[in-house]
Amino acid sequence: MGDQFSIPVANGIPALRWEEPPEGPVLVLLDQTRLPGEEVELTCTDVQALVQAIRDLAVRGAPLLGLAGAYGVALAAARGYDVDEAADLLAGARPTAVNLAYGVRRAVDAYRAAVPEGLEAAAAAVLAEARALHAEDAAASASMARRGAELLAELAPGGGYRILTHCNTGALVSGGEGTALAVVLAVHRSGELRRLWVDETRPLLQGARLTAYEAARAGMPYTVLTDNAAGSLFTAGEVDAVLIGADRIAADGSTANKIGSYPLAVLARYHNVPFIVVAPSTTVDLATPDGASIEVEQRPGHEVTDLGSPLGARAYNPAFDVTPPELITAVVTERGVVSPVTADALRVMCGSRAE
Ligand code: MRU
Repeated sequence: MGDQFSIPVANGIPALRWEEPPEGPVLVLLDQTRLPGEEVELTCTDVQALVQAIRDLAVRGAPLLGLAGAYGVALAAARGYDVDEAADLLAGARPTAVNLAYGVRRAVDAYRAAVPEGLEAAAAAVLAEARALHAEDAAASASMARRGAELLAELAPGGGYRILTHCNTGALVSGGEGTALAVVLAVHRSGELRRLWVDETRPLLQGARLTAYEAARAGMPYTVLTDNAAGSLFTAGEVDAVLIGADRIAADGSTANKIGSYPLAVLARYHNVPFIVVAPSTTVDLATPDGASIEVEQRPGHEVTDLGSPLGARAYNPAFDVTPPELITAVVTERGVVSPVTADALRVMCGSRAE
């Protein structure tokens, strides 16, 4: 039943799946660094290979990182590696998306609880937990899509939406259809998507490569733009709403997401356009009090300079920025919509979540 919740994103290939060939269990990833040109899978037989795939962004996006972390612990357990060491390596592979640490922690807890029954039982328990997380993510995705589409209809009645999005938040990052892009897909299916504006998302082009790939496959009317063209779209009155995902939402509602999200929030506020964050409640991290406490991953400079800078040029390459809650119209999770975004409302919304 390993991949029963996986939405095929590339000609039947899911973003991630567990397989058990005779040589031993493996985690198979759709290599997102090669999309959209090539639909190539990457087979991880050990945790080191998975950690490298996470660092290289072959597997990426907060919810999918959570699944990769949980299945990574399952891989370690099934292959007899040191589970605690594997968990540390996995959780430390990328610092900002809290879902990675969450997925690893849930898997490790399931493993530890079952160890008294023997190592084989513990390996089975951790795999069952990874699959449970996978199923929860798919269900959360469906709920966010419905709630997000309803919210959009409330905030911007009339339909025929022109939605701007940043980075990639669809089936490539989820056990289901994603977060923000799942909402866009629901709007598209209801015939109300006039245009999806896709920020290219420098420097690794998750928008131009991956969101455009998903939008094209879904038959959406979409247009790719350079990140710095967004302002002129707002000026022209061509954006009805901004929908983005999140990598970590602090207790006060400050939201870390792909670099370039914060300037969009500023633009949206200036132009009186709703700025909506769509994320599973597992992305809300009540243990991180505010935006300043979120660790922002710094990526290698060559990702910026490779595109034509002189040899030796220095680069500033934070992978994420943080948008303060006062610029966010609403946070949509599978549990409900928080608007205005306050610490109290987020805490109540997360109240009954399984930790
Ligand atoms: O560096 P990435 O590609 O992993 O960054 C991904 C994002 O910033 C996404 O917007 C975020 O993880 C939400 S995915 C539903």
